[in-house]
Amino acid sequence: MVEEAASAPLGTQATTPRRKGRAAGLELVDLGSESPNPPRLCSGIDELDRVCGGGFVPGSAILVGGDPGIGKSTLLLQAMAKLASDSARVIYVSGEEAIDQVRRRAKRLGLSESPIALASETSLNSILDGLKSEQPSVVVIDSIQTLWSDQLTAAPGTVAQVRACAQELVRFAKKRNCTVLLVGHVTKDGQIAGPRVVEHMVDAVLYFEGERSHQFRILRAVKNRFGPTDEIGVFEMGDTGLRPISNPSALFLDGRGDAASGSVVFAGMEGTRPLLCEIQALVAPAAFGTPRRAVVGWDGGRMAMVLAVLESRCGIDLSKRDIFLNVAGGLKINEPAADLAVAAAIVSSALDVPLPSKGVVYGEISLSGDVRPVGRSESRLKEAAKLGFDQAIAPNASDDERAPIRVNSVATAYELVQGLHAMAGE
Ligand SMILES: Nc1ncnc2c1ncn2[C@@H]1O[C@H](COP(=O)(O)OP(=O)(O)OP(=O)(O)O)[C@@H](O)[C@H]1O
Ligand SMILES: [Mg+2]
Repeated sequence: MVEEAASAPLGTQATTPRRKGRAAGLELVDLGSESPNPPRLCSGIDELDRVCGGGFVPGSAILVGGDPGIGKSTLLLQAMAKLASDSARVIYVSGEEAIDQVRRRAKRLGLSESPIALASETSLNSILDGLKSEQPSVVVIDSIQTLWSDQLTAAPGTVAQVRACAQELVRFAKKRNCTVLLVGHVTKDGQIAGPRVVEHMVDAVLYFEGERSHQFRILRAVKNRFGPTDEIGVFEMGDTGLRPISNPSALFLDGRGDAASGSVVFAGMEGTRPLLCEIQALVAPAAFGTPRRAVVGWDGGRMAMVLAVLESRCGIDLSKRDIFLNVAGGLKINEPAADLAVAAAIVSSALDVPLPSKGVVYGEISLSGDVRPVGRSESRLKEAAKLGFDQAIAPNASDDERAPIRVNSVATAYELVQGLHAMAGE
């Protein structure tokens, strides 16, 4: 059950006299007339600005979600420090931490001198009153779950409260042309009292994610009304805060040894940026009963499909074998272009044939066993060349002659398996 305020919908109580007098007509304007592009507020942290589509848009509301302790407050404090030093008026409202805690974090990050105005407050009305008189250009609310509106009796953090508070803050952002950044907690399934209800109201939703055991963090745009949504920003968490990583491929391939069977470098794309990472497969005899299939960092259903294609179209018998698949470095891939790399890793492990250590693989496999072309192959090949790779296994493409590295094109998954069989025979 979700509590709703009994009076008029939130925000419309203060009905202005205009409503009573004349009926509000519908004002129509031309789509074609000029609207200037809004200036963007750049934080100077490239990885963050790119994910936002080139900086924060004034008057937009942005939700930054993420698991507990992943570094949301750290990221926003660092970004706000940059903005504040560029003479933007920045207010950081912490509902979770005391002023001293925020100060201590700023000190650790070396940002104590930044002209950020801090407040520790959880009452929505007090916050809005304060913001109206201060007229900031950027506000951070850390976090939306701690706020409460006196319109509702529900506890802070409940869906009703989160939604009501977010609605008011989004209205404030639009009306005062102020960028509002809302921090939201998510649980693993992204549901409980979660920012999910807020996602529809805000202009952009950024998720900050990462494996706790790894130092790097990924900022992902899952919704953006002012830019593309498939961009990622990569950061490394250290004791002096988050450091942007401008060349993530090097990070994800770091520590890769000589070619072993089952290890394949996948030339992937994250948004507009190519990203190379290692996919590892291990095919082992099943001890007993039903063989195990375990996948980390990729979609299990997609792996089942690739296995079915390998079994029925390429004559590889995997029915009595355990299969483990891992994307090294804790990265999560969701591109169909990884199909061919996964197939190559599994076949390489099953036949115990290492692939060329200086080669990358990408391509989508269809159920018929055909290998289908994927987008942006030029960027993928360029990135591979930049990192010292000299060949690629890839779908047929018309501009292969101009490729920066040698492309061994395969038209079907069967061709790939034949190629590996031939290498095993040598
Ligand atoms: N002294 C320190 N040295 C190195 N890293 C630290 C230190 N203190 C905190 N961290 C890092 O910062 C992370 C916490 O950052 P932060 O408080 O920004 O996360 P958060 O997402 O805002 O968490 P919460 O969900 O509690 O608000 C820790 O998980 C840790 O990785
Ligand atoms: Mg925090």
